[in-house]
Amino acid sequence: MKNRKKIYEGKAKILYEGPEPGTLIQYFKDDATAFNAQKKAILEGKGVLNNKISEFIMTRLGGMGIANHFIKRLNLREQLIREVEIIPLEVVCRNVVAGSLAQRLGQEEGTALPRSIIEFYYKKDELGDPMVTEEHITAFNWASTQEIDDILAMTVRINDYLSGMFAAVGITLVDFKIEFGRVWENDFARVILADEISPDSCRLWDTTSGEKLDKDRFRRDLGDVIESYAEVARRLGIMKDMPTVIQGGLH
Ligand SMILES: Nc1ncnc2c1ncn2[C@@H]1O[C@H](COP(=O)(O)OP(=O)(O)OP(=O)(O)O)[C@@H](O)[C@H]1O
Ligand SMILES: [Mg+2]
Repeated sequence: MKNRKKIYEGKAKILYEGPEPGTLIQYFKDDATAFNAQKKAILEGKGVLNNKISEFIMTRLGGMGIANHFIKRLNLREQLIREVEIIPLEVVCRNVVAGSLAQRLGQEEGTALPRSIIEFYYKKDELGDPMVTEEHITAFNWASTQEIDDILAMTVRINDYLSGMFAAVGITLVDFKIEFGRVWENDFARVILADEISPDSCRLWDTTSGEKLDKDRFRRDLGDVIESYAEVARRLGIMKDMPTVIQGGLH
């Protein structure tokens, strides 16, 4: 495993060549970035927590027929995944007004939306991930209309399932960002869920207190970032699988 080939190093994860063709190893770093990497820090234990939380969520989604890249967790920081051809879109699904929606359109954070909103952003750090419409997506061949339909249908199902799953443990799923990719089967490309689903990519609020349990704690300097991610893991019932160094000191 020492001399394996690094395929890509991003802000939060590293991708290495996997043991079989068509597989990769996804390594979760402790690095935290926000505002397109203008703000940076190392949050000890974040990678371990996100690896485990993303494994849990992807496994649950797979169990209800939402195809995704997760194959198995290899160790505390790494998981084996199917290699996909990433569709260069960040798909954001919102249930409650927060973040850029509040800012851009002058809406009050915390307002429940009458129906969920799905937005597309073009994945391009140099451009600051600008919002795009389906027409831009097809005009520039980022995805076909069929693929957009599949992405929308999967996103609605993911939102319904995860909203219920988090509600059951007293957490409101305010919004989340997901990524999709293509896997090729003969000449046919199928779209599956990729990347990660974790408190880095979701807004999660305690339903009773409204307390934020996600990356906004880092973005907004609210403190207790790792403690909040650990609280999410604890409520999902997976904190017992964490090493004692992560559990130690956390309530
Ligand atoms: N199954 C997969 N196959 C191939 N690439 C993947 C897969 N899952 C996720 N990726 C890509 O791997 C990278 C993960 O790294 P990370 O999330 O740290 O990137 P990032 O700094 O957020 O940058 P990016 O803007 O590329 O997402 C992302 O570019 C993501 O799109
Ligand atoms: Mg990323």
